[in-house]
Amino acid sequence: MDITSIRKKAIDTVASTSDLKDLEIVYKSFLGKNGELNNLLKTLGSLPADQRKEAGQSLNLLKKEIEAIYSQKQTDLVYIESERKLKSEKIDVTLPGVVKKKGTIHPVTQTINSISDFFISLGFEVASGPEVETDYYNFEALNVHADHPAKDMHDTFYLGNGGLLRTHTSPVQIRTMEKQEPPLRIICPGRVYRKDSDLTHTPMFHQIEGLVLEQGASFAQLKGLLNDFLTDFFGQEMELRFRPSYFPFTEPSAEVDIRWKKGWLEILGCGIVHPNVLEMAGIDTKKYSGFAFGLGAERMAMLKYDIPDLRAFFENDHRFLKQF
Ligand code: DAH
Repeated sequence: MDITSIRKKAIDTVASTSDLKDLEIVYKSFLGKNGELNNLLKTLGSLPADQRKEAGQSLNLLKKEIEAIYSQKQTDLVYIESERKLKSEKIDVTLPGVVKKKGTIHPVTQTINSISDFFISLGFEVASGPEVETDYYNFEALNVHADHPAKDMHDTFYLGNGGLLRTHTSPVQIRTMEKQEPPLRIICPGRVYRKDSDLTHTPMFHQIEGLVLEQGASFAQLKGLLNDFLTDFFGQEMELRFRPSYFPFTEPSAEVDIRWKKGWLEILGCGIVHPNVLEMAGIDTKKYSGFAFGLGAERMAMLKYDIPDLRAFFENDHRFLKQF
């Protein structure tokens, strides 16, 4: 039984271990159930009686010694490991952060919001309707008869199920009049669709519809309202020109031009709601009259922000969008 060589072996192995898991294995190889020291202890019984006591004592001493070396080493390794972690997981708070690109509110949305805010401040409510419409709401109820050129397959996206993509926000007027009792003051922003695609037209664009339905609503009020609105929108006194026009759902109808640079620029359509439209929606035309207007949001944004190309709104180039 070579206690000296086991002792030396244990001291050396523990000393050369640099990992807690390995240390555990080393410990077991000496002091585990089948460890070298335990195996020696098991052979004690076969020794001559006079040697047994002394051998037992030295083995127990060695056992204590190895346990002490082991636990000292364990303490050291735990310390080294936590030092290593502290160093490697150190956070340098002075490093620059990862800056995420922030989105911006799209100029068309900003335009819609600012127009809506103006009308909301005058007591208007925001109304909305479906983008997939029926022929009735998009055309018939607006006094656009079956033979009207706007109903051409050329101009409107018809869906297989008899529905169509609304070509304007005017159907929201009808849906609101059917649901709510007058007096009504509504503004209806939303997407509209037309089979149109060139430099100044996109198949989808945004319109804002306005409707006032109350006793005595007049063309004079409409003029005053649009004048205030355009002055507010452009942030300066605007010169307006009302040009007689035709829309099936208004009578009389007008197109409004603003003085722009050296000439006149058409900016919206409006009129007194046609009695046929009111009657179809179940409104008492002896009591109530209404005026309405519709305008294109992209067009308003182009004018306000001086953007020459409509397509810029739909390409979503970050460099363009972040300017707003
Ligand atoms: N719906 C028309 C269009 O899309 C715009 C319009 C004109 C709306 C006159 C109105 C209106 O409410 O009174 O061209």
